[in-house]
Amino acid sequence: MTQEHDNSNDPLHAKKKAWSGRFSEPVDAFVLRYTASVDFDKRMAMADIDGSLAHATMLAKVGVISQQDLDDITRGMTQIREEIQQGTFEWQLELEDVHLNIEARLTALIGDAGKRLHTGRSRNDQVATDIRLYLRSEIDVIVERIEHLQEVLVHQAKEHASVIMPGFTHMQVAQPVTFGHHMLAYVEMFERDRERLLDLRHRVNRSPLGAAALAGTTYPIDREYTAKLLGFEAVVQNSLDAVSDRDFAVEFCSAASLIMMHISRLSEELVVWMSQRFAFIRLPDRFTTGSSIMPQKKNPDVPETARGKSGRVYGDLISMLTMMKGTPLAYNKDFQEDKEPVFDAIDTVKDTLRAFCDMMAGVEPRVDNLHQAAQAGYPTATDLADYLVRHGTPFRTAHDIVGQTVREASQRGCGLEDLPLDVLQSFSASIEEDVYEVLKLEGSVNARDHLGGTAPNQVRFQVARWEEIIASRQAKKA
Ligand code: ARG
Repeated sequence: MTQEHDNSNDPLHAKKKAWSGRFSEPVDAFVLRYTASVDFDKRMAMADIDGSLAHATMLAKVGVISQQDLDDITRGMTQIREEIQQGTFEWQLELEDVHLNIEARLTALIGDAGKRLHTGRSRNDQVATDIRLYLRSEIDVIVERIEHLQEVLVHQAKEHASVIMPGFTHMQVAQPVTFGHHMLAYVEMFERDRERLLDLRHRVNRSPLGAAALAGTTYPIDREYTAKLLGFEAVVQNSLDAVSDRDFAVEFCSAASLIMMHISRLSEELVVWMSQRFAFIRLPDRFTTGSSIMPQKKNPDVPETARGKSGRVYGDLISMLTMMKGTPLAYNKDFQEDKEPVFDAIDTVKDTLRAFCDMMAGVEPRVDNLHQAAQAGYPTATDLADYLVRHGTPFRTAHDIVGQTVREASQRGCGLEDLPLDVLQSFSASIEEDVYEVLKLEGSVNARDHLGGTAPNQVRFQVARWEEIIASRQAKKA
């Protein structure tokens, strides 16, 4: 390190821009604030350090920097990592972003070796590397939370495999279903969400490092090597593409939106189910809040908040798509705007899943109310039609006969199962005593005993299937 160029201890040095060589006046203070990203991109600091260490290791391997430089860089980065983790690192707005903040600190700590780190690299491939590394690890956390939520829902399905509730279409009572079956429907939705994340993870997990500013670099770099050091599955093959697309982040926001869409549908059901009119479930008090004016109130705040938050994640997706659409190849500063939507989607999905894991474990179906509600609205009418079909009546005729039967019951203000046998027989001679089996809710759900049907039998079969899947996931993690 030559003393005359070592101004790293000079407090003013930090204010001097890394790129200010050709500029005749300092950047406007407001412009600086407007264009800086350090306030939000500092959360990628650990990924930034990992990326830099891989780059430096590669530079030493191909002989662009010395082993001594690499040792110094490693030592400096170790200290910086600690400073950041302990909260003593001094982030400076003047240094724009996480990359320049860390690089400046490195140079202050180790001198010229720090200034060599950026050889054969640009912030353009650096930032693309950081966001991919950061997103990759957050995807893993989200996948774990989805798996946890699935476990909770499978457990609920097992507990309540034969609890009967009304199934709705058009929000009208349609046919009886089982509570367990309803829970398992969400397990399937979250499974597709999980698959989507694991699938897009492959496209996140590719290395842009080495693309440099846009065209590659004149140094004899080894991109495969840095990719391997960072655990990337592959290298992005075109340097222009590597620094300039954020499609993987758009995919993530899209997958996050679908997770929130599923959560929001579940939220809507919980809100309705908890209302006095339905009284289908109890939610643990710790997931509800009171009203400041109405002492009797217990509000389903967590599901409502989640339903509301789905909107902001859709917004994150739209922000990303719109931010990208007008950008020519290769890097544009617009891309800095990818961070906040991606971070917001990550935070929102993670927090929401966390709340739902706890809350869904505490949901208690009110069995009697569910049964009673399932009884209203002639939910076994289809079963009566199927009964007639089994006795030789064509389905359309059966449909008509049952329609008349429902009218009769409705005039008498009773359920189909309350109609005397001779009344039922006046609609069809093929009706016999055993019809009451199919008119009962239990008979109705038990009869739907095929793959994917609502019968308690099938719910138990699906629960067993899921328990196997969960066990094998846990075995893989152990
Ligand atoms: N903070 C910038 C971003 O997030 C880093 C890349 C800046 N590159 C540049 N050529 N100005 O995109």
